[in-house]
Amino acid sequence: PALYGNRTNSQGINMNIQTQWNELSSAYQTFLDRQWQAAPVIGGQKLTGTAHKVHCPYQLSQEVGTAQFATAEQAKQAIDGLSAFWPRWNATPIEQRAQILERLGDLLEANRAELMALCTLEAGKTLQDGIDEVREAVDFCRYYALQARLKLGREELKGPTGERNELFHEGRGVFVCISPWNFPLAIYLGQITAALVAGNTVLAKPAEQTSLIAARALELMFEAGLPKEAIAFLPGDGATLGGVFCRDPRVVGVCFTGSTDTARIINRQLAEKEGAIATLIAETGGQNAMIVDSTALPEQVVKDAIGSAFTSAGQRCSALRVLYVQRDIADRVIELIKGAMDQLKVGPTHLRENDLGPVIDAEARDGLLAHIQQLKAEGKLIAEAKLPGSLNGHFVAPVAFEIGGIHELKKEQFGPVLHVVRFDAADLEKVVADINATGYGLTLGIHSRNEETAERIEALARVGNLYVNRNQVGAVVGVQPFGGCGLSGTGPKAGGPSYLLRFVNERTTSTNT
Ligand code: NAD
Ligand code: ALA
Repeated sequence: PALYGNRTNSQGINMNIQTQWNELSSAYQTFLDRQWQAAPVIGGQKLTGTAHKVHCPYQLSQEVGTAQFATAEQAKQAIDGLSAFWPRWNATPIEQRAQILERLGDLLEANRAELMALCTLEAGKTLQDGIDEVREAVDFCRYYALQARLKLGREELKGPTGERNELFHEGRGVFVCISPWNFPLAIYLGQITAALVAGNTVLAKPAEQTSLIAARALELMFEAGLPKEAIAFLPGDGATLGGVFCRDPRVVGVCFTGSTDTARIINRQLAEKEGAIATLIAETGGQNAMIVDSTALPEQVVKDAIGSAFTSAGQRCSALRVLYVQRDIADRVIELIKGAMDQLKVGPTHLRENDLGPVIDAEARDGLLAHIQQLKAEGKLIAEAKLPGSLNGHFVAPVAFEIGGIHELKKEQFGPVLHVVRFDAADLEKVVADINATGYGLTLGIHSRNEETAERIEALARVGNLYVNRNQVGAVVGVQPFGGCGLSGTGPKAGGPSYLLRFVNERTTSTNT
């Protein structure tokens, strides 16, 4: 299939697709017969909530399990327990906390077939996405363990005062981690492991759509030795639960990944609440572009544009939405896009021949289809991939349109929709200004064999992650720290050297010796 390839993780471990495929397919039938469960967990105790059946997004008749959604009362109870336990967890040596993360990384690797199956069955991910997801989650565990040892210890600050001055870090208190469905393991665990290793107790709120995989990861956290009182797990409705914990005076911070609109709601609630002035770490949406000048190689451009727009059915915050192509090579690039889209295969993601699976749910599909209908009615269609007739899931055929500029898009279209814009060489700076004017600042791709052009764009662009002559998805933990600015988030970057510092209080102790 067009979008697959072999990758290595940041430790250089080759997650070869064939090896993983063999491992997963031999166990797949067992997984199909399993019913996973998720329920609120406070202090290690499983509670009951309101039951929701979970159906597989590419085969709606397939029931994957049941998620019990937590109540507002349970959210309060969770914060009571987390506040009480925080001093003990904060006093736990950093080395001990780091080792728990490393054991979790090992357990994720050992259980990868089950986790990849869950990514497929609950989130509709392809096998390659499942591999990437587990790999990234393992990377986060190991990277934050390492960073905690490097950054959070005591440091003596020598100077002229004649005293012993020490700087060190400690946890802040109860941190709420709110994650999205599109990285149900990697982002979910990335947030939680960072908050925990920094010395905070954690209230974990996974996305409604992916509670089962989050619940399985919680079991692995306990198996890795995490004290039961250090985390509370509250699957459930974001607005209901968020309304409780983002207003609680005892909450010291929220680590959120999701839409820009939700980040604003959380920000307002935190600003108005009593108690500590709470930190908000928000990683949000994007309106990501790629700029291609006439020196670029059209074949390479199309490979990278197709991969960036349609990997994960376009459900990545990093995904390419608007491809700007210099007019001189635009016809050639568009011709190649048509050819490449003709080769894309959409269907159930447990079948290896399929490049794209479904989008997450009916609401997502209907929103995308409304946008697609509108652009079709305006006569802007370039190409649309074929959908097999026999599908029973939330599928959207990958589609490409030609539009006049990024300003025509009023919001992020979180799915397999690519927009192409032609531009003249003389307008290069205006193109970058138009992209900046959206207010988003997540990823930007550049394709050019002229280094000066690439440097000019780089100097003008206001984005968090810039990719030159390659695709623009799949940032690797530790070497490609990820996150944006403006409407795309607060920073600091996940998987980067500054991330843990937002989860801690800095303390200075000066002792008259
Ligand atoms: P969303 O904002 O609807 O939901 C994200 C999480 O927030 C979920 O857990 C949800 O339950 C919770 N939530 C919803 N309303 C809430 C409220 N009022 N208070 C507290 N929590 C609430 O986003 P989504 O549709 O699930 O995810 C897709 C979005 O996430 C896209 O915009 C995408 O670009 C963005 N995203 C960004 C990054 C990044 O790193 N920048 C990564 C992945 C996804
Ligand atoms: N970190 C993810 C990517 O780079 C969102 O695609």
